[in-house]
Amino acid sequence: MSDRYVVIGNPVAHSKSPLIHAAFAKQTGEDVQYDRLLAPVDGFDSAVFELIQSGAKGANVTVPFKQDAWRLASRLSERAKLAEAVNTLSFAGGEIVGDNTDGVGLTRDITANLGVPLAGRRILLLGAGGAARGVLLPLLSYHPAMLVVANRTADKAMQLARQFAAYGEVAASGYAELGEQAFDVVINATSASLSDALPPVPASAFAAGSLAYDMMYGKGLTPFLQFAQAHGAARLADGLGMLVEQAAESFRIWRGVEPRTAALLSLLREQLA
Ligand code: ATR
Repeated sequence: MSDRYVVIGNPVAHSKSPLIHAAFAKQTGEDVQYDRLLAPVDGFDSAVFELIQSGAKGANVTVPFKQDAWRLASRLSERAKLAEAVNTLSFAGGEIVGDNTDGVGLTRDITANLGVPLAGRRILLLGAGGAARGVLLPLLSYHPAMLVVANRTADKAMQLARQFAAYGEVAASGYAELGEQAFDVVINATSASLSDALPPVPASAFAAGSLAYDMMYGKGLTPFLQFAQAHGAARLADGLGMLVEQAAESFRIWRGVEPRTAALLSLLREQLA
């Protein structure tokens, strides 16, 4: 019998994870079955316990359960601990092991797929919610020259910066206080794109040759990417590559093999068009 994994969410019908993991399994010859699991909003824990009972080996966790998974895990990776969110669960030996592959998904997409270095660069991270928190440690691991978190509610950015201070230098800011500072990489980790809104990032934030990265993806450019394009960003990227890379890291955790991602990413890109 194949080893079984699922993606748990609510809603979950839209999730591309089954398609991605099926492609990884085929490519690597791993005997894996991967399904969607819709759990009631207040029923995450019992859904996980039932999964374990049924012999499943692991799960990806998506909206709105990443914090529930963080709370439920009996053991956490360092990056998941700090993210306060878990997107990858492994079930083995009576343990529920939680990890978070979102941040590494982002940094791999930027450095390996887009070929943009993060080491020694000036990075601006927009937003101070769960999405921003999840990528801070992996970003810091590249030792950027500067990492600034800007948020509408500046207090939340300050709180984040304080929490990560032990892992590297993080500056916090409101949008207006960014002034004329320019950055090599500007990452939108706000949920503004979901409502077709633009975070109030100053036009001067995009240095010559900079990369603008929106963690959301969809058909066409988000308002943030349109704004970045109009104000000097040389490269634009959405979160589709991050989605594929976080899945690849989950697959590696579960199966011990690293799938290739380039062909699948091109295929998904074509399907979006
Ligand atoms: P997520 O898990 O996606 O990060 P979240 O924890 O609700 O969701 O955080 C949403 C983030 O997007 C916050 O940083 C929020 O800013 P505030 O903390 O000031 O609310 C940010 N955000 C949402 N809509 C925004 C908008 N239109 N402009 C700027 N920031 C926005």
